[in-house]
Amino acid sequence: NRRITVRDLAAAKERGEKWAMLTAYDAVTASVFDESGIPVLLVGDSAGNCHLGYDTTVPVTLDQMAMLSAAVVRGTRRALVVGDLPFGSYQEGPTQALRSATRLVKDAGVGAVKLEGGERSLAQTELLVSAGIPVMSHLGLTPQSVNTMGYRVQGRGDEDAHRLLRDAKAAQDAGAFAVVLEMVPAELAAEVTRSLHVPTIGIGAGGACDAQVLVWTDMAGLTGGRVPRFVKQYAQLRAALGDAAKAFADDVAEGAFPQEEHTFH
Ligand code: KIV
Ligand code: NA
Repeated sequence: NRRITVRDLAAAKERGEKWAMLTAYDAVTASVFDESGIPVLLVGDSAGNCHLGYDTTVPVTLDQMAMLSAAVVRGTRRALVVGDLPFGSYQEGPTQALRSATRLVKDAGVGAVKLEGGERSLAQTELLVSAGIPVMSHLGLTPQSVNTMGYRVQGRGDEDAHRLLRDAKAAQDAGAFAVVLEMVPAELAAEVTRSLHVPTIGIGAGGACDAQVLVWTDMAGLTGGRVPRFVKQYAQLRAALGDAAKAFADDVAEGAFPQEEHTFH
């Protein structure tokens, strides 16, 4: 009864087994996914949009990531918990990255961290890995760069495709144990997946990746408004939860709750 490790994920790629990753931001939701056998839970800085009410991931702080990561670790027994390094917690350089990652490993108990960028985050990845912290790399659309990049498909055209392939190899060579590919053409993601010995984890990157990740609130239909095209909603939690709240409020208004079995004497 041990936790999944990065070695298990490497073995899965060798066996050609695909697996799923979900985000989680709190202990109760994480415990559901852990009991459902999801092997890897990402405490994504998508918590900014999906949990904390910001418009982007940019304002998310390391303090917030540490608090959410600790909750997800407490709620799980089996999953590998990966903590996202938020914007501004690693861009200054390897020393800052090590300080930030150490915080998530020691205080929150995560088994790995994720950071955005291939070649631009090479020195950070190398130092973290040499210090014993597994690193997941995130390429393609990197939401912390929304102000320069926007939200659109990355790696289109020969030059951008070659840069993505180079970034992926650089991340692997620096010691990353997996590479997230976000909003990348399926053909390019397939080529990256064939070229790497470490697993690729796709989100809007087609079916050839070794693994797939979705933001849990999108996957479960809890997110309000439009969801990106690459999302499949496996439940309609927003409607179900809204109906439950309305039914409770109606019962209270009508005097139908509480009843005798809910009452102490
Ligand atoms: O923060 C996040 O949820 C992510 C995934 C979409 C990969 O980085
Ligand atoms: Na993220």
